[in-house]
Amino acid sequence: MTTTTVSPADESVASTLSAALRAGTRPEHETAEHTGFVERLMAGQLDRAAYADLVAQHRLIYTELERAGERLRAAGRDGGLVFDELVRVPAIERDLAHLHGADWRDKVRVLPATEAYAARLRECGDSLPLYAAHAYTRYLGDLSGGQIIKRMLQRHYGFGDEGVEFYTFPEIDKLKPFKDVYRERLDGLALDADERAAVVEEARVAFRFNAAVFGELGVLHVR
Ligand code: HEM
Repeated sequence: MTTTTVSPADESVASTLSAALRAGTRPEHETAEHTGFVERLMAGQLDRAAYADLVAQHRLIYTELERAGERLRAAGRDGGLVFDELVRVPAIERDLAHLHGADWRDKVRVLPATEAYAARLRECGDSLPLYAAHAYTRYLGDLSGGQIIKRMLQRHYGFGDEGVEFYTFPEIDKLKPFKDVYRERLDGLALDADERAAVVEEARVAFRFNAAVFGELGVLHVR
């Protein structure tokens, strides 16, 4: 006699977009988490200059992501995914001022992988499904693992609240319920199965862009 095991928790056949995104990007998440730059940064083996270089890359990435979000919202097509509480560019710029001083604009550089990521965001920005893929990858990450990253940065590099404001969401009272709402909004997007698959595919691309940025930062900062 054979038995058939049905696993309702099998997210590879997930019916909701948020579950499909989580399952579909798991290997890419694993890869991004274990790049040399991220592992060394988290272990306290780099320096503030390395972290500042990462923040400068975030500045361009979030500038493009948030421009795209604003464009979609202005057109009334943001699917409820654009939240003022998530906007990161002002916090990033305060972090850069803390790290480099008032003349931070003269001291930051943008790496080729970051330029490529920004170009992709510009290409995707007018499509809600593609925007959703990129926004999911960054914002849910910042609200999740980003909170662990913040604590590690504070522990190893002596930050208090300043310098790591990027990871702080003062207008969000509790992160978990907020993430649940965000996932509900993703799941509420009017997308068919093919479009949902395209969102997951683009999120995997987004993770790879992030890994490429870490790769270039690693070449510069990991010895
Ligand atoms: C040191 C590096 C990282 C650590 C320690 C980390 C850790 C985590 C943890 C623990 C969660 C699960 C939280 C939960 O269940 O609510 C999570 C979720 C997530 N992370 Fe990361 N992460 C890291 C890097 C990244 C990177 C580089 C990205 C993408 C740019 C990313 C994107 C995400 C996303 C999108 C989620 C949400 C998954 C979902 O629930 O759908 N993470 N991360």
